[in-house]
Amino acid sequence: MKLLTVIGARPQFIKAAVVSRALAVHHPKVCEVLVHTGQHYDTNMSDVFFDELDIPKPDHHLGVGGGSHGRNTGRMLEALDDLMAREQPDWVLVYGDTDSTLAGALAAAKLHIPVAHIEAGLRSFNRRMPEEINRVLTDHIASMLFAPTALARNNLRHEGIEEAKIHVVGDVMYDAALYYKKRARKPQWFDSLGLESFALCTIHRAENTDDPLRMRGILDGLALTETVIVLPLHPRTRKQMAEFGLDLPENVLVVDPVGYLEMVWLEASCRVVITDSGGVQKEAYFHGKPCVTLRDETEWVELVESGANVLVGADAERIAAMVSRANNIRKESGGFYGDGNSAKGILGKLFE
Ligand code: UD1
Ligand code: UDP
Repeated sequence: MKLLTVIGARPQFIKAAVVSRALAVHHPKVCEVLVHTGQHYDTNMSDVFFDELDIPKPDHHLGVGGGSHGRNTGRMLEALDDLMAREQPDWVLVYGDTDSTLAGALAAAKLHIPVAHIEAGLRSFNRRMPEEINRVLTDHIASMLFAPTALARNNLRHEGIEEAKIHVVGDVMYDAALYYKKRARKPQWFDSLGLESFALCTIHRAENTDDPLRMRGILDGLALTETVIVLPLHPRTRKQMAEFGLDLPENVLVVDPVGYLEMVWLEASCRVVITDSGGVQKEAYFHGKPCVTLRDETEWVELVESGANVLVGADAERIAAMVSRANNIRKESGGFYGDGNSAKGILGKLFE
């Protein structure tokens, strides 16, 4: 049995780390061919995760990154078509909603290779997001859909996807949070900041970074919080802020993107999380931290409905108000995303 996994962006390295480990433990006879599309390529957006999470070195690196969504997807598709035809895997495994996910799923489907999609059924119902297009298309060409929650399964049902293809298995990011919590590492630079309390922020979503008005609103909101904010800055955001001539407020301490073990430490140590990331919203919940989300909608609606997460969009006043009131946001730390054994469950279904 041969499984070909396509990954390319930061959150996919973290998800693949737990699935590849479960594969080695529970299905040692399955051969995994790991393909890195190259979508993320800076050392601290890619290599650091392979090194510290013990992910096997990719068998193939496509070197496609840095272009527009369409160009990247097309170049990945072309390279994956050749590669999959040569490798002839029994299954292709893709994660989430990035351009790498869609290219992997589409290349496989065109070659009649069955596709398994981890994190299926998530919807923002906002078709202007590149991620929404990627996940809807991927779900509709996948043969096996691993939904993290019952709500995600309902989204798939409403789109007419066959019930037999859908499995609710929890979230592999919860597996990762539990497994790596004990290996969390304080960043070397942290003590020199002399902070007693801080908010942790990440910003990278295209709907924010590509819109100077939304970026301005977010930066004004961060300034108004009068809280010390640690911001590991995504390269996309750095580039866009330079392009728009936007500066960061003085209360925001910018650092380069950190590795996952340092990120887990920061999440577990902060007072409040401010983010537009999908993964970081869930991790705030896993670590029992209130989350203020810089979006108008979220795929992770259970977090908002339970009161663990508030949506503030890019509205400066609302951002500041919710960060200062963060102690009133409910702090919860488990329940929605399985029992930490999602990877094992997924592989059990795939190879049963
Ligand atoms: C992508 C995903 C998004 C995911 C995010 C995780 C798509 C459509 N978007 O967004 O769903 O949440 O990854 O972080 O697939 N760049 C660098 N170095 C890098 C990586 C990116 O400089 O290592 C810069 C480049 O200018 C690049 C830009 O960031 O063009 C955007 O990168 P891209 O991978 O297209 O999208 P992300 O915003 O990272
Ligand atoms: N992350 C990280 N270092 C950082 C910022 C994020 O390791 O500097 C991790 C974070 O803990 C989470 C994942 O990257 O596991 C989320 O990725 P990202 O926010 O880039 O994408 P999204 O989840 O929105 O697709």
